[in-house]
Amino acid sequence: MMKLGVLTSGGDAPGMNAAIRAVVKTADYHNIEVMGIEGGYQGLIEGKLHRLTSTDVDYIADKGGTFLKTSRCAEFMKESGRIKALSILKDYGINHLVVIGGEGSFKGTQNLHELGVNVIGIPATIDNDLSYTDYSLGFDTTLNTILECLGKIKDTDLSHEKTTIVEVMGRYCGDLALYSALAGAGEIISTPERKLSFEEICSKLNEKIKSGKKDNLILITEKMYDIQDLQKYVEDRLDVSVRTSILGFIQRGGQPSAFDRILASKMGITAVELLLKGYSGRAVGIKENDLINVDIEKVHSKLSSNDDKCSLLDTILA
Ligand code: F6P
Repeated sequence: MMKLGVLTSGGDAPGMNAAIRAVVKTADYHNIEVMGIEGGYQGLIEGKLHRLTSTDVDYIADKGGTFLKTSRCAEFMKESGRIKALSILKDYGINHLVVIGGEGSFKGTQNLHELGVNVIGIPATIDNDLSYTDYSLGFDTTLNTILECLGKIKDTDLSHEKTTIVEVMGRYCGDLALYSALAGAGEIISTPERKLSFEEICSKLNEKIKSGKKDNLILITEKMYDIQDLQKYVEDRLDVSVRTSILGFIQRGGQPSAFDRILASKMGITAVELLLKGYSGRAVGIKENDLINVDIEKVHSKLSSNDDKCSLLDTILA
């Protein structure tokens, strides 16, 4: 008799709720009992589990965040934490699990798989930093949020003919900055995959100003520079007034886009179906519009493998 647990782990991402809904509804369809695990792996270790039915998830698909709550759990990184988690799963009779999260969360999924639990991962992180899938849940919504913010910043930049340096999230992956620029917002971009020096940023900005473009957005991925140092450097060299804006957590919340909700639903359904077919230790993804699943052990973060996509910008940002 199959009994399924579902949890969200790591940073929340829009679309997590839609994925939970799809998992619960699909399980219900197959008469599988589902337990929601609150607060990610931490909640699992602490035994925070409760029964989830179809009606519990009727109104969550359009909500940001995760109604199951989430955590980054240091205890689960240790063997002792995982043993505790395993014993809770045994107590509840849970032998199948769906984990919705990013790379760190998938490491835990792999560990549980090795301990004999049947597990499938669903990629959810606004950073889109997983190499095996074109998109992770949350990325599209966050990109749209960023574009909305950049549009507003552009209005005021244009009115005052000013430059703003905008820092976006992404951890060590430049996709959010890169796709924002591809979507038309950003004159100069610097990402971990193609990091510009302060001097290079200055020289590109100088060229833009000399060509008559006085309002400019400089997009940078977080964790690369101190934004105030960059502002000061540019102002000292170019005699222009530069503003800064760190978009911060506004990027992570909000109603998931149609794209994220649909992808989440497809992935949630697929995850349960894979478990029903006897698969474990797999991560669901999407590649060139096809749903795929890969060995979760082989899932890595993208980091610096994105230079091809950056080169797409060479012509339009020249
Ligand atoms: O992984 C999602 C993300 O929002 C990153 O973009 C960011 O670097 C990080 O999480 C922030 O994490 P925390 O919520 O732990 O501060």
